[in-house]
Amino acid sequence: MARITAGIACSHVPAIGAAIDLGKTAEPYWVPLFKGFEFSRQWMAANQPDVVILVYNDHATSFSLDCIPTFAIGCAEQFAPADEGWGARPVPVVQGHAELASHVAASVIEQDFDLTLINRMEVDHGLTVPMSLMFGQPQAWPVRVIPFAVNVVQYPPPSGARCFALGKAIRRAVESFPAHLRVQVWGTGGMSHQLQGPRAGLINSQFDNAFLDALVTDPESLARIPRDRYLREAGSEGIELVMWLVMRGALDGAVRQVHRHYHVPASNTAVGHLILEPSSGETK
Ligand code: DHB
Ligand code: FE
Repeated sequence: MARITAGIACSHVPAIGAAIDLGKTAEPYWVPLFKGFEFSRQWMAANQPDVVILVYNDHATSFSLDCIPTFAIGCAEQFAPADEGWGARPVPVVQGHAELASHVAASVIEQDFDLTLINRMEVDHGLTVPMSLMFGQPQAWPVRVIPFAVNVVQYPPPSGARCFALGKAIRRAVESFPAHLRVQVWGTGGMSHQLQGPRAGLINSQFDNAFLDALVTDPESLARIPRDRYLREAGSEGIELVMWLVMRGALDGAVRQVHRHYHVPASNTAVGHLILEPSSGETK
């Protein structure tokens, strides 16, 4: 049977991708940010999964503003990089896992979540920056990836409660897949940031750190946070944090915090990162 061996939370700031791609990681501005991911890459090398279900948001790269699915699962064999801003990153093409993706789609839709099926798309910094932070700069990504897109770009995004429940449905889906696969679920984006308007540049470290604490010990309390509180306290793009609740829902019960990193700023954003393992059961 497939099983979920770990959950990872990780911000996705595009400037982090540019710093990696342009060889700037040793610059003083970036050193403390990247230092917090050194442990993560070692841990990953020792705990590599077969597949990552990577919960992220597209930034009007693949889904134009003409059509914005609330929840969408990537069922293709491959996903090429693409981006606005700095353009497509020089990173490997993402290899999907069409069989597991189709199974997760069928199971999660059967559990009453209406997913959009994506048979062709490109993936932007929302997905590729966390990949680079966790795997460095390999010739080919060492894992298969199922991109799972959540709309946090245009109002109304799904609620935190809906995202948390979706994570639980994804867990049931993975655990009913007959092949022996080690699966990680990643929640990306966040933490507090606002890219526009009079409050552009907003960071709320108190909110972020309380969120990191509660994601480990009391995720139900986070699932009750309404959208407008994210907007008020974590800024307009802070709503990306609901994607972390999909990951935490997929881990279900108690978890062990393996690693935590928080750094301000990277570009306009507070960067947060957690590695969580289920506190019972095997992780290898
Ligand atoms: C920034 C952060 C984001 O989440 C994003 O999608 C684009 C830019 C930033 O901080 O610059
Ligand atoms: Fe973003």
